[in-house]
Amino acid sequence: MSDNDKTKNWRPATRQVRAGVERTPFGETSEALFLTSGYVYESAEQAEKSFTGEEDHYVYSRYGNPTMTQFEDRLAAVEGAKFCKATASGMAAVFAALAAHLKTGDRIVAAQALFGACYHVIANILPQWGIKAEFVDGADLDAWAQALSTPAQAVFLETPSNPALSIIDIVAVSDLAHQAGALVVVDNAFATTVLQHPLELGADVVTYSATKHIDGQGRTLGGAILSNNEDYIENTVAPFLRQTGPCISPFNAWVLTKGLETIELRVTRQCENALAIAEFLSTQDAIEDVIYPGLKNHPAHELAMKQMSGHGGTIVAFHVKGGKEAAFRIMNKLEIIDISNNLGDAKSLITHPATTTHQKMTADEQLAAGIRPGTIRLSVGIEDVRDLIEDLEQALA
Ligand SMILES: Cc1ncc(COP(=O)(O)O)c(C=O)c1O
Repeated sequence: MSDNDKTKNWRPATRQVRAGVERTPFGETSEALFLTSGYVYESAEQAEKSFTGEEDHYVYSRYGNPTMTQFEDRLAAVEGAKFCKATASGMAAVFAALAAHLKTGDRIVAAQALFGACYHVIANILPQWGIKAEFVDGADLDAWAQALSTPAQAVFLETPSNPALSIIDIVAVSDLAHQAGALVVVDNAFATTVLQHPLELGADVVTYSATKHIDGQGRTLGGAILSNNEDYIENTVAPFLRQTGPCISPFNAWVLTKGLETIELRVTRQCENALAIAEFLSTQDAIEDVIYPGLKNHPAHELAMKQMSGHGGTIVAFHVKGGKEAAFRIMNKLEIIDISNNLGDAKSLITHPATTTHQKMTADEQLAAGIRPGTIRLSVGIEDVRDLIEDLEQALA
């Protein structure tokens, strides 16, 4: 309900702090928090008009809430998207973005390397309703071309992927997908709105787990679906969200609105720290391989630099010698970096994907997603990088 037009000429850092602000008559500095599930009307006629849409009035917080609108407007302005719908979590966003659009008999082509729950939705849940799923190696354009040589209704990908940090060419895949008639949905959780804007690269829809870098301080869950396609958002996604109910709590929307204010500062620092850590890890004997798109030896380094504003991202993955046992030993010795499966936090967090985030995949599916028994994923925080490197050094010793 707020007017994003005035933010058009603002630069991203200004939008992150000020877009979507709707001050109440009290003139508060910080954004107001409307913890209300319902709304009152001056008359029965006004209630009726609010439901028919003749009057612009909130009706119920499953449909919309001023704090939710503020978050949606700010994120849309920061992302450069015309429309944004907030959701209860990142998975609610991914599921709604796909389930609202796909029908029985439709076909979805997705990258193989996905976050475990995204993979589960596409491989196991959507097929329950007769939606056919096909997975391809996301980095292989020939594989996309082959899979998209027959019509498809949706394409889904993450870049960088979780946890193998595979980089997918959004421009090229969007082009192939559009020729096949597919809606392109990009999960931008790892790249963040600071580094990568998939809609500018040809994607139709962007989803976020706002739980990650948008909050950035591990407090709340949230998600969002963004697009420039009004028909898709207003006639497909919005009714689906209203009737099925994965709405964000106003409190969480408020936390995430405040999170957006500092996202660029945090993500920039996290990227600098991540590069320094990736370079350090590359010199360590205990490590077989370091995967970081910011390193020149990453197979898609140049594409990553082009697509992600010259940064490699906030996550570093590495394979340790000695498999699961060695990985656990190193993780258990860390004194600063916490063992946690969350990511994008101000605190550095480390996880063993094979036994946590991607545990539900079979060993073969894990391998296809780039996960080995010795793979570790490190979400780099904003601490002093010298302390982080010293912590890793003593754990690897
Ligand atoms: C790439 C990606 N997409 C989606 C999600 C799901 O987000 P949420 O936990 O907010 O539902 C995650 C969570 O780790 C993720 O890494």
